[in-house]
Amino acid sequence: MSKNNSSPPQNQFANKAQAWSARFSEPVSDLVKRYTASVNFDQRMADFDIQGSLAHADMLASIGIISAEDKAAIDRGMALILEEINAGRFSWSIDLEDVHLNIEKRLVELIGDAGKRLHTGRSRNDQVATDIRLWVRNEIDIAIDLLHQLRRKLATLALEHTDTILPGFTHLQVAQPVTFGHHLLAYAEMFGRDAERLTDCRKRVNRLPLGAAALAGTSYPIDRERVARTLGFESVCRNSLDAVSDRDFAIEFCAAAALIMTHISRFSEELVLWMSPRVGFIDLADRFCTGSSIMPQKKNPDVPELARGKTGRVNGHLIALLTLMKGQPLAYNKDNQEDKEGLFDSADTVRDTLTIFVDMVGGIRVKAEAMRAAALQGFATATDLADYLVKKGVPFRDAHETVAHAVRECEQRGCDLADLPLNDLQGFHGLIEQDIYGVLTLEGSVAARNHIGGTAPVRVRQEAERILAETSAGQ
Ligand code: ARG
Repeated sequence: MSKNNSSPPQNQFANKAQAWSARFSEPVSDLVKRYTASVNFDQRMADFDIQGSLAHADMLASIGIISAEDKAAIDRGMALILEEINAGRFSWSIDLEDVHLNIEKRLVELIGDAGKRLHTGRSRNDQVATDIRLWVRNEIDIAIDLLHQLRRKLATLALEHTDTILPGFTHLQVAQPVTFGHHLLAYAEMFGRDAERLTDCRKRVNRLPLGAAALAGTSYPIDRERVARTLGFESVCRNSLDAVSDRDFAIEFCAAAALIMTHISRFSEELVLWMSPRVGFIDLADRFCTGSSIMPQKKNPDVPELARGKTGRVNGHLIALLTLMKGQPLAYNKDNQEDKEGLFDSADTVRDTLTIFVDMVGGIRVKAEAMRAAALQGFATATDLADYLVKKGVPFRDAHETVAHAVRECEQRGCDLADLPLNDLQGFHGLIEQDIYGVLTLEGSVAARNHIGGTAPVRVRQEAERILAETSAGQ
């Protein structure tokens, strides 16, 4: 390139909006500006962006890179900016690309040169990574709390229904009687694991990227441990290249969110089924249902249906994020800007869904008679008859076959096993005696499953109480 074929690019931009515009000879088109900007969605991290900046400024002052006066000015300016944002008075500009540059520009407007010193030893690359981690950490804490609230509601309802019996299903065919409390506590287990998963994910979220700067670290004698302490991070990221480009923690969060929604979706599926007049096991409070504009009789379980539907987008965000990362070389790439909307939506969906479910579960009206009537159909106690024979010395396989014959007979007669007279039952096996009728009752069947994890009412009570103690305030 010849030296004199062009004059050094003068800054021709009308308002020299971009922080980096001095390098360029022409502005981006409006479409490219919109395409590359993230401020419309990343402004919701503003609070954390400011926290990160304050911690950074505090550290710069502590090592003498900026003066105490500059730091005081930054504190003051940021407090004003936070006020403006909270009051909805802050004017966000797409010309300034993202949340970071919008806030920095306003800081300079408010406090002058001190504001221009804030970005010393820092890049938006480690800044944004820090902001997202702070944001996700906060969402994790909220989600864990909601999961425990939901477990409490499930356990409370379970305590009321330790003795309520419904058919347990496999293949959606009547299998064996179970207590409704036991069924509810199955979900309390799932949500308990979800909370554990988030707690584990939080450990990897809670590491500080700041200090990595653009990718290689910085030549200032920074004190990363100090920044980590200020922001409540457990440790600092150990490799600057990894620190600016790692989004594993966001993927882990999205995976945990997808599993939460998957559990919610399974529960929703049951709520919808149970509320169908054909099943009629429960009723949901009106405030979670809507009517039909054409069919006056309808009461539709919209909330569980939508929750089941929203699971799809949360699962999708996980795949989107995995795909976003799979082709990226080290270190930061602009691709990463695409990490936010799905992540935010996953967190929002989980938060809203759990909040609604906490309320909804508390308002489930249980129709115990319908559950009981259903459990009495479909030979739910057939296994109990087999077990009865086994306890009298009959090998299980033989007992199984004997009961199968009895069930066929009942089907032909259109009656239940417990309706067969003793004489007829003894026709199937001579070891059957009068006490069989206690075994063939629903109550006898569930009470017999009295071991850790079993459906017996006494066990369900213990489990529900354990969960209530585990999730009581202060846990
Ligand atoms: N808005 C960007 C993001 O969300 C911030 C980092 C931009 N860094 C850069 N060098 N362009 O990832």
